[in-house]
Amino acid sequence: MQEKIEQIRNTAEAEITSATSIAELENTRIKYLGKKGELTLVLRGMGSLPAEERPVVGSLVNKARDFIEEKLSQKEREIKEKLLEERLKTEKIDITMPSKKVELGSIHPITQIINDVKEIFIGLGYEIAEGPEIELATYNFDKLNTPPDHPARDIQDTFYITDSIVLRSQTSPMQARVMEQQKPPIKIICPGTVYRSDSVDATHSPVFHQIEGLVIDKHISMSDLKGTLELFAKKCLGEKTKIRFRPHHFPFTEPSAEADVSCFVCGGKGCRVCKGEGWIELLGCGMVHPNVLRNCNIDPEVYSGFAFGFGVERIAMAKFGIDDMRLLYENDVRFLKQF
Ligand code: DAH
Repeated sequence: MQEKIEQIRNTAEAEITSATSIAELENTRIKYLGKKGELTLVLRGMGSLPAEERPVVGSLVNKARDFIEEKLSQKEREIKEKLLEERLKTEKIDITMPSKKVELGSIHPITQIINDVKEIFIGLGYEIAEGPEIELATYNFDKLNTPPDHPARDIQDTFYITDSIVLRSQTSPMQARVMEQQKPPIKIICPGTVYRSDSVDATHSPVFHQIEGLVIDKHISMSDLKGTLELFAKKCLGEKTKIRFRPHHFPFTEPSAEADVSCFVCGGKGCRVCKGEGWIELLGCGMVHPNVLRNCNIDPEVYSGFAFGFGVERIAMAKFGIDDMRLLYENDVRFLKQF
């Protein structure tokens, strides 16, 4: 019996020594010390031994078990250490390697135009006003002298949330909001996102941007409007830019006009950008309608003012020579980095 135990001990030791993986060690452990392991079977067979031999054999088996266990855990430690060493070698970080390039974005053309316009008007003493994109129909239409049967109020043009709440279709409602809250003199511009129920094509998008301007004071006249817009056009589009007014109609201004600028690409001769016209339509404007002033508790006998509003996309496209509006919203950096 003693020999057998000795033999088990020796073969186990040899197996452990030659093992190269944790899995092999585990197999060895099961083979000798598991429930049906060789050493365990010796213990179980002790019943057939004479009584005086049992304690001797029992103690030998226990010693052999301790020995094997000790060898197993020693080898396990060795294998783990080796594995770790190998990992450290293969996963070594080369700190002298150049790092990944950090890609910087660029200011979006729309944001560039908005920033430019803000800067020009701040220079003229204007303040920047901001207001809600989800707007009461009262501000978007009624206070701006736009009656319920006006075509702009049709659901084909305007997104309605309820009968009385819309996605603002213009930045003009900020005129009314500011006039209600501030006493004249008022000089503001309001850049922002507006929404119209248009389908997407090269010149339309249901979401786009406008900038509104409003000046209210005593003795404000059409010549102030014209001078302001001329200065703005020159600063924004180039010193040679000329401006012209065409009569137009807006519910919230009287008289109303549309302002064109001389084509800043061809200087007015006619080219692809101005479609041979020599002029590019820039914005809508006019003298604030007395009804609008009254709706906002400003006395039209004392105060007058002008307002204007324009689409940012239109200016960005003309200024940067972009011929499809959709490019502005695709967020393709190859496109955006050109400006
Ligand atoms: N809100 C107008 C539009 O979306 C543009 C406009 C025209 C704004 C005349 C004005 C204005 O302030 O006086 O077409």
